[in-house]
Amino acid sequence: MKADKVVIFDTTLRDGEQAPGCGLGTEQKLQVADRLYRLGVDVIEAGFPVSSKGDLEAVRSIAASVGRRPGAPEICGLARCVKGDIDACAQALKPAKRPRIHVFIATSDIHLKHKLKMTREQALKRAVEHVQYAKKFVDSVEFSAEDATRTDPRYLADIVEAAIAAGATTVNIPDTTGFAIPWEYGELIAGLIRAVPNIARAVVSAHCHDDLGLSVANALAAVRAGARQIECTVNGLGERAGNTTLEETVMALKTRRDLFGVEVGIRTKEIAKASRLVSALTGVAVPPNKAIVGANAFAHSSGIHQDGILKFRRTYEIMNPADVGIEESALLLTSRSGRHALESRLKHLGFAVSKAGLDEIFVRFKELADKKRYVFDDDLAALMDTGSSGAEDEYRLEYLHASSGFGVVPTATVRLGTAGGVVQAAACGDGPVDAATRAIDKASGMRPRLLDYNLRSVTSGKDAQGEVTVRVEQNGLNILGRGASTDIVEASAKAYVNAINKLAAALRQKRRMKPRRKA
Ligand code: KIV
Ligand code: ZN
Repeated sequence: MKADKVVIFDTTLRDGEQAPGCGLGTEQKLQVADRLYRLGVDVIEAGFPVSSKGDLEAVRSIAASVGRRPGAPEICGLARCVKGDIDACAQALKPAKRPRIHVFIATSDIHLKHKLKMTREQALKRAVEHVQYAKKFVDSVEFSAEDATRTDPRYLADIVEAAIAAGATTVNIPDTTGFAIPWEYGELIAGLIRAVPNIARAVVSAHCHDDLGLSVANALAAVRAGARQIECTVNGLGERAGNTTLEETVMALKTRRDLFGVEVGIRTKEIAKASRLVSALTGVAVPPNKAIVGANAFAHSSGIHQDGILKFRRTYEIMNPADVGIEESALLLTSRSGRHALESRLKHLGFAVSKAGLDEIFVRFKELADKKRYVFDDDLAALMDTGSSGAEDEYRLEYLHASSGFGVVPTATVRLGTAGGVVQAAACGDGPVDAATRAIDKASGMRPRLLDYNLRSVTSGKDAQGEVTVRVEQNGLNILGRGASTDIVEASAKAYVNAINKLAAALRQKRRMKPRRKA
């Protein structure tokens, strides 16, 4: 038997756009609609045409573009139970191949008494009249009973039955205030399906808000109870705490198909792009820990998890990141990461490391990771690049203290490890870097001429690594040294020591090559 399809009704451009500060212009709405089309949503609620000329124009543009493409989704406009609202929808939706008008009226006693100042009977009559009126323009008419979860369930069943009899093809049961609890919402939907005799003539829809952080759970409970349309938004954008999140709901239905047994027509590989576009256009950042599309959603930080992922991805991943359009899981290298993760990342970056090499780089990686929260690829490249030149290094920077400030003479003390022990020296200079290089000169006994000094940031963030390159000259040898650290004085000292080591090695080599005098 073919599984039921759950209609994905996207309201990013209507309910989502109602979120404070998320207003979009027509051009931007067209970009979002284009992305939603690529994503494969079944219905795009493009706006509330009567609310402004701009909104009407945006809905019309979307209807005329995305709404006319091959396999176009339904393009929907929102209307109160007011003829002018429906006229505006009909006008805006005219170019669409598959237009839908969505009429709503509040049905809870709180709204009827305090907002609409209407009786239940008056509201029911209005709903019927306006569903019938919308039906004059389009076949697909959705009726929403606003604040349904705080509405008397018997009255809700009556108004839903009447709306279907008047021609509604979708009946939406909004949890407008995000008040419902999943099993309660599920029972409300199941109860309606049992109580409304003509319910089979319409699709039952869930529209949930996230005031208690339960909108996705509520929507899923509704599907379990028989709802076959979910209204949702990209990144969960929407009034107040937002709406049901499209990406979470779709991935929950897909990942747990064993439980839900329904189909969704979404091309999930497009999810990440849609999320990024909506975030960029609305300026609402996606929190890093947000499910599915947050930066950390597929990032593994603990050493145990990283080891598990490298052995068998499904140890810690229930979804494949590629399925939502994220290239690969990120093994975030931190101070908690182990050798296995480091080795795998180095291999990925193209560095072949021997066992001994890995041991050595692991020590320096840990030193760096203790200073930085995350060690990125470019940090690793810098680490590999600025590693000691190996067993031949004459000097290792073991200690550095530099001080400087306004009205203070810059000074530095360094200790260099050598084959025979340690050498130590202190010096003053024009600044802490100058003082450090002078101290290194004193300690090593070398006196190269500093030709060039360069500092650049090689990684991102406030804790970025600075890479220093120095060019020194002695006895006609022109040598480049490099060093990287989150501390620029330390990076400078490392670069200088690196140059001195290379210089010492080159001088030794030069001496070996010198022709012996004949006796
Ligand atoms: O939350 C709500 O009740 C709505 C309706 C207009 C469907 O957005
Ligand atoms: Zn809403």
